[in-house]
Amino acid sequence: MVTQSTKLADCSPCIASIPARRRVSILGSTGSVGCNTLNVIESNSERYCVESLTAYRNVALLAEQARHVSAKLAVIGDASLFDELKQRLSGTNIEVAAGPGALVEAAQRPADIVMASIVGAAGLAPTLAAVRQGTAVALANKECLVSAGSLFMKEVSASACTLLPVDSEHNAIFQALDGSHGRNFSRIILTASGGPFRTWSTKDMETASPEQALNHPNWSMGDKLTIDSATMMNKGLELIEAHHLFSTGPDKLDVLVHPQSVVHGMVEYRDGSILAQLGSPDMRKPISHALGWPDRIENRAPKLRLEQLSSLTFEAVDEERFPAIGVCRDCMRHNASASTVLNAANEIAVERFLAGDIGFLEITSLVMKSLECAMTDGMLAPLSNLDDVACVDQYGRNKARMLAQGLQ
Ligand SMILES: NC(=O)c1ccc[n+]([C@@H]2O[C@H](COP(=O)([O-])OP(=O)(O)OC[C@H]3O[C@@H](n4cnc5c(N)ncnc54)[C@H](OP(=O)(O)O)[C@@H]3O)[C@@H](O)[C@H]2O)c1
Repeated sequence: MVTQSTKLADCSPCIASIPARRRVSILGSTGSVGCNTLNVIESNSERYCVESLTAYRNVALLAEQARHVSAKLAVIGDASLFDELKQRLSGTNIEVAAGPGALVEAAQRPADIVMASIVGAAGLAPTLAAVRQGTAVALANKECLVSAGSLFMKEVSASACTLLPVDSEHNAIFQALDGSHGRNFSRIILTASGGPFRTWSTKDMETASPEQALNHPNWSMGDKLTIDSATMMNKGLELIEAHHLFSTGPDKLDVLVHPQSVVHGMVEYRDGSILAQLGSPDMRKPISHALGWPDRIENRAPKLRLEQLSSLTFEAVDEERFPAIGVCRDCMRHNASASTVLNAANEIAVERFLAGDIGFLEITSLVMKSLECAMTDGMLAPLSNLDDVACVDQYGRNKARMLAQGLQ
């Protein structure tokens, strides 16, 4: 990412050229981040209009959203649902398309900002397509950066696209890296709620059900991310995300458990000052920040009432009970292909857990075993291009599926 100081310096000429209503495309509009993005747009309808919306299978909600905001284009990822989408949008001027190629085309449509909120590595090709257009990209999809970090960031630099972090922790850090002092930080601290099993013993987590793991205490999110939160793999993926976004080595990246989810991220400077960003745990806040940047816009998220908070607490992560964070740190120190395998194996492991095929603790152990196999099979070579990413990603998925079968 271009450092914030450079971006802020660069942004003055572009404020003048911001059109009256900025065109927004939302990749993954039917998901949790996608719906929240539409909610923010609705609160600011004089500022934004919708260009493209995309979904994977939720054709009913996609059609409803497209009608509601008069989108120009609606794309469904699963090509078998094209006719249904067409029928649901008959009588409107909304263009309809389907399939993976159409997702990429949706990302390439002329827009002022693209919200990249597809879940998983499936978001990589469309998000990269938006990056290559040089469009401002609001990045929610952390798996893009975990899977293809350095190559992804190279494309960002080459296209001079403005990348705006939407993940609440990274958005907080982006806000706390104040202008010209951005390079003088000594530590970036990501906060973690600790998820639903923060106080559970390993023995209790062994028999945790998908319903229990999906019961997040503070955040309402899609299923994959909610499970990643419960294993704390999410925080590990976020460390890798921060490593790429803020060009920072693992030694300057820390995690603190903060059960209230009020402080989203902090930056400690050389002089010992710590700047933190606070807000209620509601994704409409970071989404508003990214959509409005460099301006600030309204949203309907509840405002934080500091006088109602009894305490803000912070504690170290118990990496024995939550080994996923350490696994992610090791991947960050290894070459990039380790993170690609990690991400792919984790996506499969979460899917298998939600399907009831493997236990909760087996999610992280499946990822670790997939990484060990990748090492033995010589798959952890440097990644030269996106074809390498696709190949290593496929390896990670196949290996995790095979290992999961052995566990059933
Ligand atoms: N939710 C949060 O609070 C939050 C916070 C920070 C970061 N993030 C990140 O933002 C991303 C989205 O998270 P989410 O919680 O919004 O996920 P979600 O609720 O599961 O929504 C995912 C979206 O991606 C679409 N999708 C799923 N598989 C796809 C595929 N193979 N091809 C094309 N589209 C596909 C879904 O379409 P269908 O609805 O049709 O399946 C849906 O629109 C994730 O990377 C997550 O880590 C989320």
